[in-house]
Amino acid sequence: MIRPVIVAGVLLLGLGAVSAQQDALKNAQTVMKATGKNTGALVAMVKGEKPYDQATVDASLAVLEETARKLPTLFPESMKGQPSDDDYSASPKVWDNKADFDAHIATFTKAVADAKASIKNIDTLKAAVPALGKSCGGCHETFRIKKG
Ligand code: HEC
Repeated sequence: MIRPVIVAGVLLLGLGAVSAQQDALKNAQTVMKATGKNTGALVAMVKGEKPYDQATVDASLAVLEETARKLPTLFPESMKGQPSDDDYSASPKVWDNKADFDAHIATFTKAVADAKASIKNIDTLKAAVPALGKSCGGCHETFRIKKG
């Protein structure tokens, strides 16, 4: 009666590993979606679709700071090649070109810090958002895959 127990245990371990991978993927997508939503709030003010509001700026930048803190561990190796049912997924380059990926994290982290230090009104918001947007796009260009 020992063997069935072991088999069940191995199966459970296997399932645990799969769900940990899915959790990591979901987590990365949740963090990036929040990043997109909060960057969108800043862009809406730049475009004049929403009035300038310092509280919204502060809240959005706090989320982006959180993203910068999470990015270094957001994409664990176990996620590599994992199929995503979402529109976007991480390119294998995230792990294959790790040094380059980390350089993009550093650029993004600096853009967020610069934005936080400089944005006080609509003019400084308009001045800071392009560099911020460039740091998102610079990473996505190489490291994000859109479903075709
Ligand atoms: C260091 C790299 C990097 C930076 C910087 C970065 N992203 Fe991403 N982003 C990714 C990767 C990789 C994915 C694909 C994996 C995923 O969807 O989570 C992604 C996915 C996304 C998605 C799609 C989420 C989904 O699953 O639907 C959005 C939206 C997004 N990013 C917004 C942003 C915005 C806005 C910024 C800048 C303020 C930003 N990202 C900065 C790497 C980055």
